[in-house]
Amino acid sequence: MTAPRNKTEDDITAEALQRFAETPDPRLREIMLGLVKHLHAFVKEVELTEAEWFQAIEILTEAGRMCSDKRQEFILFSDTLGVSMVVDLLSHRKPDGATESTVFGPFHRLGAPELPPGGNIAHLDKTGVRTLVSGRVLDLGGKPIKGALLDVWQAQSSGLYDSQDTNLGELHMRGKFHTDAEGHYLVRTVRPVNYPIPSDGPVGRMLRATGRHPWRPAHIHFVVSADGYEPVTTHIFDRTDEYLGSDAVFAVKDSLICDFERHASSTSEAVQLGIDPPFLTAEFDFHLKPASEQGATVLDAQQRLAALGAAD
Ligand SMILES: [Fe+2]
Repeated sequence: MTAPRNKTEDDITAEALQRFAETPDPRLREIMLGLVKHLHAFVKEVELTEAEWFQAIEILTEAGRMCSDKRQEFILFSDTLGVSMVVDLLSHRKPDGATESTVFGPFHRLGAPELPPGGNIAHLDKTGVRTLVSGRVLDLGGKPIKGALLDVWQAQSSGLYDSQDTNLGELHMRGKFHTDAEGHYLVRTVRPVNYPIPSDGPVGRMLRATGRHPWRPAHIHFVVSADGYEPVTTHIFDRTDEYLGSDAVFAVKDSLICDFERHASSTSEAVQLGIDPPFLTAEFDFHLKPASEQGATVLDAQQRLAALGAAD
């Protein structure tokens, strides 16, 4: 078929769709046709100007240039636009008793140390409130899972992750813990604090230009995995945080909100770990569902990030 010479914008859309219509892989075909359809519709709806189009190219170029082993500006874009959470919700549609997932975020790093139960991930943090996080990893029937792996990461009490802290030359506030025979885990850390997401790049400019705040409610990140179970990427949030209702990345789910309880006097566990009061404890149980046939998991996503240049 010969394309008409005097093309309208709708002719271009139709022609672009036609070019992708023969894509052999059916899923790739569906994605490309949907992308072209919605991207063209968006451009037409807002009547994008050439200057705005060029600005968008500059923003994406700058985002790409900012990415390194310590910075992932594209994940920040995805998170702050709400896309990460829409993908999360589509992937975990049915409530099934398993712990709910939330965004992976841009701050995971490979190479966190393996720590024993009660190991301190905050050994360099001198200003945070001492905190013990404990609980169990269980299957959907409530049976303990022995040897489950908890990959934990958290911002320091300064609000900065190790990768953002120019005074730090090493990994900090990260650790890998395993559950014991009863499924118990115990992490020593400091109280999580709320923090603004990095605002020195295009994502920060977008938030300022649109009158949005960059704050995330206090949380601790976990990826919990065990042989034969589906891993879960999630956070636990502090119930008292002022930003629970307006997380800059839309990641709060009610079931992930947790109490951080203050202790003015010691407990046997605290004595054993050499922790003087006052300190906080938080308890959270993770429930894993059996592994499904579907291949792609968040662990795969971590490996892909590593391939993008994330440091090991
Ligand atoms: Fe975080």
